Amino acid sequence: MSDLTLARRFPPEFVFGVATAAFQIEGAASEDGRKPSIWDAFSHMPGRVENGDTGDVACDHYHRMESDLDLIASLGVDAYRFSIAWPRVIPEGRGAINDKGLDFYERLLDGILARGLKPFATLYHWDLPLELQGRGGWTSRETAHAFAVYAEVVAKRLGDRLSSVATLNEPWCSSFLGHFTGEHAPGERNLSAFLASAHTLNLAHGLAVQAMRAVRPDTAYGIVLNAKSLHPASAGAADIAATGRFDAFHNGLFFEPLFNGRYPDGVSEALGSAMPAVTSEDLAVIRQPLDFLGINYYTPEHVAADPSLAYPAARAVPPPLGTPVTDMGWEIDAGGLSHLIRQLRSRYALPPIYITENGGAFRDACADGAVHDPERVAYLRDHLSAVADLVEGGSDVRGYFAWSLMDNFEWAWGYAKRFGLVHVDYASQERTIKDSGHWYRDLIGLRDRSGDAAA
Ligand code: FCB
Repeated sequence: MSDLTLARRFPPEFVFGVATAAFQIEGAASEDGRKPSIWDAFSHMPGRVENGDTGDVACDHYHRMESDLDLIASLGVDAYRFSIAWPRVIPEGRGAINDKGLDFYERLLDGILARGLKPFATLYHWDLPLELQGRGGWTSRETAHAFAVYAEVVAKRLGDRLSSVATLNEPWCSSFLGHFTGEHAPGERNLSAFLASAHTLNLAHGLAVQAMRAVRPDTAYGIVLNAKSLHPASAGAADIAATGRFDAFHNGLFFEPLFNGRYPDGVSEALGSAMPAVTSEDLAVIRQPLDFLGINYYTPEHVAADPSLAYPAARAVPPPLGTPVTDMGWEIDAGGLSHLIRQLRSRYALPPIYITENGGAFRDACADGAVHDPERVAYLRDHLSAVADLVEGGSDVRGYFAWSLMDNFEWAWGYAKRFGLVHVDYASQERTIKDSGHWYRDLIGLRDRSGDAAA
């Protein structure tokens, strides 16, 4: 299919954007009153992050915000998804508000709006103020209440400029990777800590939506989830049943309370003693009506039964040999995205969906002011085509954000993995638009905007 045909498959009002997150790009870790987050602490611990990389400088976006916004505008996108750093706004998580932190986001929002872009803000993209970790972090219910206060502060000061706010980015990562496998900050490895943090995150989301709606009822509120797109590893009954359990454990823990007001039966039965106390009031708070759902999708997973493991007695197995993968080792399968959205829609009454992240890490080389990344172009083209299939099939998908605007701090992988449409030379901080960035701009330019006048 030609790019023109692909571009014309999207309705005129479809939103094309690029995405980033505060900790991954901002740097300026101790400037203007910012205090450390759990990722500052974690990345400074030996052995936690590849190559000992930290977010101290990152892409130095804090100092290059205006030129980075020019860069975004030059890509021809409609929208920019970014996150607000809690440790800039309320540096200790609770208590004193840091006006300089809010000033930065006010300037950022003004710059976004001045360039005719739509801001899509996320309140929490993993940078919990370290001070709160000392009080139990996400395993403590207090953190949910502190988050709601932070959300209210943001709504009061920045709400006039915000049209769309997501509370959390990928609470599965914050809870499972942060508290069960220990790959992410705070690096804990404990089942009850995982389950407690998942519940606190869910609760924090609900309380924050309530708090922000009370201040700014007209803003669109949502959450960003990285639902896993699952396939049984074989047609056997054991693998099919294992996939169901895996799904309840990883996806159900968030989708069920958010959209059905309950935790999945299987999880509560199997892990009841490890589950935190959950009240019916909590469940009512968590299930707020949402204006949108953000879905981040990168790769599918194949699930096999493994009776030697504790509940869910299942594990993700590698794809068949020879399956194309990215530099993360993640299988490339655009069909996994459409499968996921169709499955979610069939199970839950969902609000409009935005694909808030999608993209690939590849080994890019910058030479003579150019980066040739045909694999990323192919990745984006295939996934956008899957999104177009969904739109044409009647799924209410309203936008797509490429991850990421530019190469950045890829969590436990540090700067070793490059996801950007723009290459960053970390020594000079020079930005170079990759072929994929040019391709994305051209695709967006080929859209049929004739509906605009009518809209
Ligand atoms: C997602 C994160 C994002 C980025 C991509 C590759 O899980 O939300 O910050 O690291 O993965």
